[in-house]
Amino acid sequence: MPLPRSLQTTLGTGLTVGVTLFWLLALAGTLLAAREQLNTRFDSALAETAQRIMPLAVVEVINREDHGQPQHIVAFEAHDEPLVYIVRDQTGRTLLRSHNAEPAVFNRELRDGFTSSATHRFYGAWAVQRTLHIEVAEPLAQRRQAIRAMAVTLLWPLALLAPLCFFFSWIFVRYSLRPVLAYRDEIESRGTGDLSPVRVADLPVELLAIAESVNQLLERLRRALEAERSFTANSAHELRTPIATALAQAQRLQRELPPGSARERAQGIANALRKLSDLSEKLMQLAKAEGGGLLSTEQHDLASLLQIVVDELRQSPAGDRIELALPESGTCLCAIDPDAFAILVRNLLDNALKHGSDRQQVEVSLSAGGLLRIVNAGEVIPAEDLPRLGRRFVRANTAARGAGLGLAIAEAIVAGVGARMSFQSPASGRADGFEARVAFPLAGT
Ligand SMILES: Nc1ncnc2c1ncn2[C@@H]1O[C@H](COP(=O)(O)OP(=O)(O)OP(=O)(O)O)[C@@H](O)[C@H]1O
Ligand SMILES: [Mg+2]
Repeated sequence: MPLPRSLQTTLGTGLTVGVTLFWLLALAGTLLAAREQLNTRFDSALAETAQRIMPLAVVEVINREDHGQPQHIVAFEAHDEPLVYIVRDQTGRTLLRSHNAEPAVFNRELRDGFTSSATHRFYGAWAVQRTLHIEVAEPLAQRRQAIRAMAVTLLWPLALLAPLCFFFSWIFVRYSLRPVLAYRDEIESRGTGDLSPVRVADLPVELLAIAESVNQLLERLRRALEAERSFTANSAHELRTPIATALAQAQRLQRELPPGSARERAQGIANALRKLSDLSEKLMQLAKAEGGGLLSTEQHDLASLLQIVVDELRQSPAGDRIELALPESGTCLCAIDPDAFAILVRNLLDNALKHGSDRQQVEVSLSAGGLLRIVNAGEVIPAEDLPRLGRRFVRANTAARGAGLGLAIAEAIVAGVGARMSFQSPASGRADGFEARVAFPLAGT
């Protein structure tokens, strides 16, 4: 799956690449225009030079004693000539040339005006009734060098400006995306049970419609879930009294009937009603666990709460098997609703007592770091079954009575308070048994 792209990186890179490309385009245009201008200026200087040299050359040629010999103008001191020239008669014979002039670089034909070769630009002109011809040559390398120098001057600021442009567009995009990031943080920081509308203040108009649709969706979801939960809680609550009444009647009938098949049937009815009563109790717990309100505004000490729940469970028939280990010093403060904590621990301990081996102790411990461990002996549960145990109505291979809702209730509470729960079988440090671990988020961590 491709990684999701960051809007900030995309915009920052896009803006920088765009600005750089436009800069380069403008640079190319500038260089083209500058080259035209430079060529015009260089050409006019070339023509001017030819016109200036011509009268001097004519005088030189006419005043010469030996008309037949070509003359090579000697330099006063060694120097580089940017321009060279050659004077020829109408037959093409060289009469005069500047000291660096190589006849091979000049045009063979005697031409008027501007011409170019691969290496030089020429200007040719006739004088003295077309008997003398002067041609001045300028190496093209000079013009190319001038254009190159100009390109470099225009290019190097880009090397500095491109990273600056990237940096500032990055900062600007980040600044513009602030409301979007705040919106994301607000959604991220919510607990799973929080379906209240998300604040949409300062969001750009492009995202406002999406945010409003999300809020409408959240509202519809909240109403649907609330309807489902209140239906479950109300039905379980409404069933409580008739079930208790029916159970009392069945137990009374059981006592009144003489021993025999009718009494066994009355006992069967009482057992079925007890199961129904347990189920309605678990459904009420599930509705509460999924209904939110699991966090408390006050901090509670988990060690004291655990002590109370364990003391209470020790009164139950198998409760004397519970061994409790609390942190020796300090308190474990957590913003959990005490009722929710009690429901969670009761479900986990109830499981350990009823599904674990009834000949061995159930170890309950709480660490100073807020880690609750409940360990019991018993058959190992296959690793592939462990992740499914938290689902509603899912049970592993057990003979004990139950609906398969205890761990679903525990999962809902754990998710609602931002804790983490994991199961292990065999339990850590044992060859058999089951271990449930819950890591609570403590205050100040
Ligand atoms: N401590 C434990 N030791 C061994 N098996 C366990 C333990 N806790 C849970 N299990 C297994 O996980 C299954 C699911 O547990 P859960 O608490 O959801 O349902 P239940 O205990 O069967 O029924 P209920 O809790 O609704 O009365 C159990 O049926 C049992 O097979
Ligand atoms: Mg259970």
